[in-house]
Amino acid sequence: MKTIKVTGWGTYLPDKVLSNADLEKMVDTSDEWIITRTGIKERRLVADNEVTSDLGAEAAKKAVDQARLKPEDIELIIVATITGDTPFPSTACYVQAKIGAKNAVCFDINAACAGFVYGLIVAEQFIKTGLYANALVIGAEVLSSITDWQDRNTCVLFGDGAGACILEPSDDSSGIISSYQGSDGNQTDILCMPAGGSRIPASEQSVKERLHYLKMSGSGIFKLAVRAMAEAANKALEKVGIDCKDVACLIPHQANIRIIEAVAKRIELPIEKIYLNIEKYGNMSSASTAVGFCEAIEQGRVKKGDIVVLVAFGAGLTWGACVIKW
Ligand code: UT7
Repeated sequence: MKTIKVTGWGTYLPDKVLSNADLEKMVDTSDEWIITRTGIKERRLVADNEVTSDLGAEAAKKAVDQARLKPEDIELIIVATITGDTPFPSTACYVQAKIGAKNAVCFDINAACAGFVYGLIVAEQFIKTGLYANALVIGAEVLSSITDWQDRNTCVLFGDGAGACILEPSDDSSGIISSYQGSDGNQTDILCMPAGGSRIPASEQSVKERLHYLKMSGSGIFKLAVRAMAEAANKALEKVGIDCKDVACLIPHQANIRIIEAVAKRIELPIEKIYLNIEKYGNMSSASTAVGFCEAIEQGRVKKGDIVVLVAFGAGLTWGACVIKW
């Protein structure tokens, strides 16, 4: 079976920047606390009229161009998001219409921060079996729309953005060579948006109780994130007998610089080999690994033949890793 490779990539970050100094004026926090506890200096926020599919579509157009395809050539669109334009239909359908990919099959994946990694793995299966000739996988989020701007525990952490990749069969041995996924449904409450679904449908009461915002037990999830990301990277590499020291670049989910440093220590990978953008964008959930991967490629951090690892962890709980030979 042919390996499946990335042939196009693109990102879109909204123009508006929200700095730590801006947040100091909104909640009881400080630039110093945010930088030392998280590594975040600023994050991007959508303009008033921008929605998740706008971000996804802009990133997608660049990826489609880069792959030298036309929108109508795209056979599958997967959008990984927890902040879709609407609960339904899927954001992938909105993106399809915006980019004119009229022949694509479209659906969303909800695996929170691990969504883009899950999306790559799902798309890989569809192409490997021959059902579709290519796929557009997008990680796109407008987390600002579910952020409680009165809660200092969470509002300093998140940002908006999108990254997209085109996957196609490889004509050599490059591409996705291994992957690993895990989930733990016993810890759903540790990171979630309580209302707006069938459990607590939207009501005056649910709005009053601020249940339509993201809730997170940050310190509870910290250790789990370190353990799961280290395990996912190690297991995916083990499957193909690659030692961590042979990894050229690791693109982790960017939730907290201290989590990333702890993962690096656990898997014994020098921090210089890790692509970081948390300082500029904060945590963009599924878009973090998508944007990080695309930026690493654009900045020449990934060269022909290099081993690249994407690894992520998020609500669900869900986690996963993808090993790519570039
Ligand atoms: O994206 C998917 C998964 N998400 C994650 O992986 C996130 C994992 N968690 C984290 O990154 C960290 O736990 C946080 C950044 C969320 C919090 O950092 P922490 O070092 O775990 O802090 P903490 O929650 O233990 O809080 C320490 C103190 C508390 O004060 P007291 O109770 O010790 O007086 C908080 O109230 O820091 C306080 N605090 C703040 N202070 C200033 C919490 N948020 C802020 C803030 N500014 N924004």
